[in-house]
Formats: sequence, C-alpha cells, structure tokens
Amino acid sequence: MLASTRELLNTALRNGYAIGAFNVYNLEGVKAVINAAEALHSPAILQLHPSAIQYGKSPLVALCMEAARKSLMPIAVHLDHSTSEKDIHLALAAGIKSTMADGSFLPYEQNLIFSREMTKLCHANGAAVEAEIGRISGREEGLTIEEKAARMTDPVSAVEFIKETKVDFLAVTIGNVHGKYLSEPKLDFPRLAKIRAAVSVPLVMHGASGLRESMIHQCIKLGVSKFNVNTEIREAYMDVLKSSISEADPDLLEIMEKAIDAMQSVISDKLQLFGSVGKAYLHHSPYADDLTAKSTSNKHTSRNQSSFDQILKPVYSEAFCLLVK
Ligand code: 13P
Repeated sequence: MLASTRELLNTALRNGYAIGAFNVYNLEGVKAVINAAEALHSPAILQLHPSAIQYGKSPLVALCMEAARKSLMPIAVHLDHSTSEKDIHLALAAGIKSTMADGSFLPYEQNLIFSREMTKLCHANGAAVEAEIGRISGREEGLTIEEKAARMTDPVSAVEFIKETKVDFLAVTIGNVHGKYLSEPKLDFPRLAKIRAAVSVPLVMHGASGLRESMIHQCIKLGVSKFNVNTEIREAYMDVLKSSISEADPDLLEIMEKAIDAMQSVISDKLQLFGSVGKAYLHHSPYADDLTAKSTSNKHTSRNQSSFDQILKPVYSEAFCLLVK
C-alpha cells in the first residue's frame, strides 16, 4: 500500500526502530526494495533523487507509485535532495507526497527561507517535508576539526529552524557523509543526543552506506527514524554487471534477475539492521495515522511502546500475517 512517510517515521520513532529509504533508478531497483520489504514484512521508502527523475521522468515516478500501491507492505515514495522549487513542483504534480527540500548548500538564513517556502508549498499539497541544517556533502577528508564541526547540525539552530520552517523531519549532520567512508566514520553522538532532546520531529540520517551496526543502533537509540541508503545498493548492482559482462553468452533477463537479487540482499540486511523487519503490521492498523496525528501534535514524541501497541500487537500481527500469506 502507498504509505505516508509521516506515518512511517512517527510510528517507527514511537516504537524504537527506523525506516530504510533506498535510492532507486529503474525497475530493478524498485523490485529489489519491494521484494525485500515483502519477504521481511517490513515498511520501506522508495527514494528518487532528482537526477533519477531527470533520467526516468514521469514513467519512473509512476512505476514507484504503482509498485507502492500494489505492495502488501507499507511503502512510501520520497523525493530526495531537491534543491529547486521546479523539482518539487514536478514531484508534487506526479503525486509524490514526501520531499526533501534541500537548502543545506545555502547559508543558514537562506536555507531557512528556502525550507520555509518549500514547506508551505508542500503542505498546501498534502506533502511532508524533510530539510537539513549543517552540510553533508561527499567526502569530508582534508577538513580541519573546526571546519568539520562548522558543517555539523547545531542543536540550538535546529530548534529555531523547525519552529520557523515547520518542516516535518530534520536531516542531521553529525559526521555522516555520502558515498564511501575512506576512513573509520566518526559520528558525534553527544551532538545527536542534544538535537534529539531539543526537537520532537523524526530525525533522518543520510549516508548510511558503510556505517557499522553498533553506530546504526546507537543512532536509532538517539532517535534517528530514517536512514538513506544509496552507495551500497549501486555497488551491488554494478558488481553484477561487471561480472556478467565477461560471461560467454550473457542473457539480459538473467543479468537483471541477478542484479535484483544482489540489491535485495543489501536492502534486506539494512532492514534487519534498522529493526523494521516484521513491523509492517504496526503501520496497517486502522489507528496508525491517528496515533501519528496525536504524536506530532505533542511536544515530545514518546519512543516507549504505546499501550495500543502492547494490547493490540498480537491481534494485528496475526491478522496481518494471514493477509500476506
Ligand atoms: P549513501 O550513498 O552514502 O548510502 O547515502 C545515500 C543518501 O544519503 C541519499 O540521500
């Protein structure tokens, strides 16, 4: 079913796990995400970077939306890193109800204005918004400690930013980078704890490829509800293409199937790591949206299991398993 990112993240936050948002570029990527989610009864997000939309245009967006609608799992479709109003208009027109308005390349004040304007636009169209303060770029090697710290999310600014922009989710920069970590990643957990204590919206972590299990778990403990994964999935795809090309008489369909399996395996491992395996039923309950509305109107969202989850979990879990069998 086509799920709302807001409901996915708030339910995950309330129950102490996180949602995987996986960048997709084509049918193989979409199948890999849906197959993994269905095999593991997990929610997931199909994530489209503007460059993927430029490549696949409306047929690619329609593919994601239809795959989400047809799935028995709760699947949201999200526009990643949109730095222009044009990209956001295109996504909204295509029916996407979840976008990242990325003004993090701008100075803080301009980022705030951009994020506020894009949030007004998205909310008027029923879409939720992720924004970022701090600057997660590509590799950050070569920067001094001071330069790295200056790029990280400031907990005090985060409070003002959310109040002024009304964004629904905040992407944090605490030492995470896109692409490969060339040395051991160093995440600033005390900073993450301060951000979590200061704001109540779900937190997002970009650059989840290559983060160790213990780091992911610590991030979830400190309130991260969405992890973005791209590099590891692309690598799995490319490895299959590279090894297949040397085969004597390669068959296109077989290569595509192998690529799907390789990507699905990466995605399945991430779903396990994020703790969302077997949690689809929580998003299917008739009260899921209602609980989200309540938790987002509260100042601080509780990550303790709600009494609803404790009492009705067995009932919904069993009914859900019967449905998907
Ligand atoms: P990685 O490519 O490092 O997995 O990061 C993905 C991401 O953050 C997409 O927004």
